[in-house]
Amino acid sequence: MASGAGAAASPIVLVAAGGLGREVLALLRAAGEDVAGFLDDSPALRGASVDGAPVLGGVAHIATLPDVRVLVCAGQGSARAALVARLAEAGVGEARWARAIHPGVEVPAGCVVGPGAIMLAGVVLTASVTVGAHVVAMPQATLTHDVVVEDFATLCAGATLGGGVVVGRAAYVGMNASVRQGVRVGVGAVLGMGGALLRDLPDGETWVGVPARPLGAASAGRHRAASVTIPELEDAGLADAGLAQAALLVDLAAPTNLALPDESGGLDAPTEPAGVAASDGRGGGA
Ligand SMILES: CC(C)(COP(=O)(O)OP(=O)(O)OC[C@H]1O[C@@H](n2cnc3c(N)ncnc32)[C@H](O)[C@@H]1OP(=O)(O)O)[C@@H](O)C(=O)NCCC(=O)NCCS
Repeated sequence: MASGAGAAASPIVLVAAGGLGREVLALLRAAGEDVAGFLDDSPALRGASVDGAPVLGGVAHIATLPDVRVLVCAGQGSARAALVARLAEAGVGEARWARAIHPGVEVPAGCVVGPGAIMLAGVVLTASVTVGAHVVAMPQATLTHDVVVEDFATLCAGATLGGGVVVGRAAYVGMNASVRQGVRVGVGAVLGMGGALLRDLPDGETWVGVPARPLGAASAGRHRAASVTIPELEDAGLADAGLAQAALLVDLAAPTNLALPDESGGLDAPTEPAGVAASDGRGGGA
């Protein structure tokens, strides 16, 4: 069931009209939610309609919509963190973050799902699972007992987490990757699609393969070269920072009122919000 943390009847505005945003739009419509439209800074989307939903304006337009609930739909955790920080600065309080949980996804008693979380069809939560704020779990992601997924993390389609796994803040677990029970994926780390992680993945690193190992230095360089650009980082003279480092830096700037559990959300885009490159080397289309 899709749900919001704010007033039940208020419409929802989706931020970032990319692939994930369109998936969330479809989910919310199917659940009978009132979606007012998108906010997206992309000039190409000004006045456009995306899958029948109007693009109401850029992200700053939120200032004119004080009563809507808000859901950030950027596919990358670092981008979601940057957008959440901007929206919080614009006055979006914690009670206004919506959630989008597919009607077929069960959240058993004892599991906690943070504000701004998105769970697409087929996501499984078994027992005592804690999902942070603005986490995205794509189709068929499986979170087994005692898993903790920290704020802004992304679990791509088919990702499977064994019991007690911890996925760090803004980390990214690629399609059909598996994480052995009790293992930690570091803050801002990336586990490539199809990887099998047998031991802790350090913060900010990218590992691939079966068993998963660090991506080679040359390849890692290419990966960094294709990293996101985020206005806050550019302002700070850090536009060339690597994706993982960017995630870390943005997270440091993110609001601190999104901690779990009581206070409290794939690379998708054909279009991402302005300031976020459509391609960062993790792949396209969710
Ligand atoms: C791990 C990942 C982030 C690396 O991206 P990248 O830095 O652009 O890497 P490249 O495509 O340049 O590949 C670099 C090297 O790593 C290898 N490689 C890349 N991804 C790999 C993976 N998942 N498993 C094994 N090897 C991988 C490539 O074969 C290449 O090897 P080479 O240097 O020997 O030729 C990316 O491949 C990935 O897995 N992304 C996740 C995609 C996903 O799940 N998308 C979901 C969309 S909803």
